[in-house]
Amino acid sequence: MFFKIPQVLTPEALEKITTTLTEAEFVDGKLTAGWYAKLVKENQQLAKATPTAQALEEQVRQALQNNALFQTAIRPKTVHTLLFSRYGPGMAYGRHTDNALMNGMRSDVSFTLFLNEPSDYEGGELVIEGADSEQSYKLPAGTAIAYPSTSLHRVNVVTKGTRLVAVGWVQSWIRDAQKREIVFDLDVSRRSLFAQSGKSTEFDLLSKSVANLLRLWSE
Ligand code: NI
Repeated sequence: MFFKIPQVLTPEALEKITTTLTEAEFVDGKLTAGWYAKLVKENQQLAKATPTAQALEEQVRQALQNNALFQTAIRPKTVHTLLFSRYGPGMAYGRHTDNALMNGMRSDVSFTLFLNEPSDYEGGELVIEGADSEQSYKLPAGTAIAYPSTSLHRVNVVTKGTRLVAVGWVQSWIRDAQKREIVFDLDVSRRSLFAQSGKSTEFDLLSKSVANLLRLWSE
């Protein structure tokens, strides 16, 4: 299941981040790509380990931590890798799969958090392949798309303007996307039931099931 997560960052936070990125030092994106992804990765990334990068990372991590939909849909154990990427004209990231292991952690879910508006650039869609179709995403600033790291995907060439995104990888408490979806659906249902009729017997039973499935499936 793909999750579109709106308003991860406020307009004020986005303004500050994009201004900071305008003045920051970027390096070749190939530095963090696997051996075959290097062949198709043409972008730039914010230099890691600088105070600027660390402050921005922390800000995005905090925003994700506070985002109820991200927490419920993804069940992050850890957001183990976070990068800020920039695509100028002519840049793209061809078809690839994300590495299964990064920094000693598993990648279950990948996400792209859009930092500037779709009108700021042409092209630059994130395209995620399914078995017989593909989904294309170019979302408003502050919105994230999260998808299973198991997929093949690409970023179309930017033909005009600059595309700014934060991309990240999550090891989830529940590694299987289908299981995450079951827990998510039950959790959404119990919250909706609670809003309608309070702490009913049905709500209690659904809450018990959500908790017990998490116990069964967490790792
Ligand atoms: Ni990727």
